[in-house]
Amino acid sequence: MDILIIGMGYVGTTTGLVFAQQGHHVTGLDIDQQKIASLQSGNLYFYEPGLQEMLSTHIKNHTITFTCDAEAAIKNHDVIFITVGTPSLNSGKADLTYIKQAAEMIGRYKNEEKIVVIKSTVPIGTTDELEEWIALSSKDTSPVHMTMNPEFLREGNALKDALYPSRIVIGSQSDTAIHKLKELYKDVSSPVLVTSTKAAEMIKYASNAFLATKISFINEMARLCDKAGVPIQDVAKGMGLDERIGSPFLNSGLGYGGSCFPKDVKELIASAEEIGSPLHILQRVEEVNQTQSTYFMSKVKSKFPRLKGKRVAIFGLSFKPNTDDTRESVAFRMLEQFVQEEAKIFVHDPAVNLSTDWVKKGVTQCWDPYITVKEADLLVICTEWPQYTQLDWKRVKGNMGNPYLFDGRNMLIGEEMKKLGFYYRGIGSDCIDH
Ligand code: UGA
Repeated sequence: MDILIIGMGYVGTTTGLVFAQQGHHVTGLDIDQQKIASLQSGNLYFYEPGLQEMLSTHIKNHTITFTCDAEAAIKNHDVIFITVGTPSLNSGKADLTYIKQAAEMIGRYKNEEKIVVIKSTVPIGTTDELEEWIALSSKDTSPVHMTMNPEFLREGNALKDALYPSRIVIGSQSDTAIHKLKELYKDVSSPVLVTSTKAAEMIKYASNAFLATKISFINEMARLCDKAGVPIQDVAKGMGLDERIGSPFLNSGLGYGGSCFPKDVKELIASAEEIGSPLHILQRVEEVNQTQSTYFMSKVKSKFPRLKGKRVAIFGLSFKPNTDDTRESVAFRMLEQFVQEEAKIFVHDPAVNLSTDWVKKGVTQCWDPYITVKEADLLVICTEWPQYTQLDWKRVKGNMGNPYLFDGRNMLIGEEMKKLGFYYRGIGSDCIDH
């Protein structure tokens, strides 16, 4: 199949490469010339395991091409995916500017029947509206088959998630579109669910909101565990063994970040309010998430009431491991608090380049974790990059000025760290003071 994808961001690029891998011919369109130039020359401009190699292969095989020429791209394709961003407005609602731009572009250059598939996460009713937006900017009256096909892939795990999705949801009223998408996904052995466009839109929001709820639930339980003297890891393990609950997304920590959960939870709360059916549980989910980093910071402050001049080492800046994405990363909320307190901050992350704004604020980036902790008064783990578990923790302790270790992701075994002589604090297991 010849497929056009509009929006060469994270989801668009990954989806395009996976379609190419599955034997289709893909054209990636974006108005950002820099992104297109980078992809054309075979350089993936973000970090995602396995994707760079795939890009090189498919460019070489001419199974994927990239362009800024919207007119030619739209005229030459009858299956068009939209994967542009839908960031948050200040109101919490999704900003549909890029979706509208894509609709306008399709309308302007449409010359025949098209199947238009939205993969971006969009509020309930947007797919139907999109059809109107396309019609408004179009002289051509041939049909547009609208479809909502939500994407469920996770950053850091994108290839596996896209190649082996848990389910394929096709939201459409058009038999032509449903038939075409079933054909497109025929080699993927995942359950296919055909729904209305609105149900498909809602499935995506409800799924992300439910996962966010699991995280805030376990984080609030962790706060209770701190007070009650119970290790949260045991509680999560015991709960997760019940297959009705399941163990994924029960890791307590600094809270959820990234470009999806925070914005999708806010959008769902705002739309539900507007529709007149407020989501009370979700409001609390957000509140717990917002306060989780201050909760953790209070543990630091109980040992270091004054941080001014203290050397603070931070491990991890990305919103989760295996990505260089820092959008809504809780690590930066922590960083900001240490900057406010005028601490001397040294950070390490295997993939993130610290922006000059932070460097101007006095934050130093180090590429070697052992150097990051040199003479440090305390070390705070904000992202659970797996390589941190492989460190020689005896050496880390030896390099530090004072062995205070605050593990914001519960990634290390507290008892082992204590045996090495660290003062160790995680989240939800701090019953006994050292
Ligand atoms: C999330 C969903 O998991 C995907 O299914 C969805 O397609 C995607 O959003 C999207 O809407 O595009 P992603 O944001 O890439 O994927 O990352 P997750 O792995 O879901 O993690 C989100 C946040 O939750 C991270 O900050 C992570 O550290 C945190 N988290 C996750 C926890 O704090 N505890 C957990 O147990 C799991």
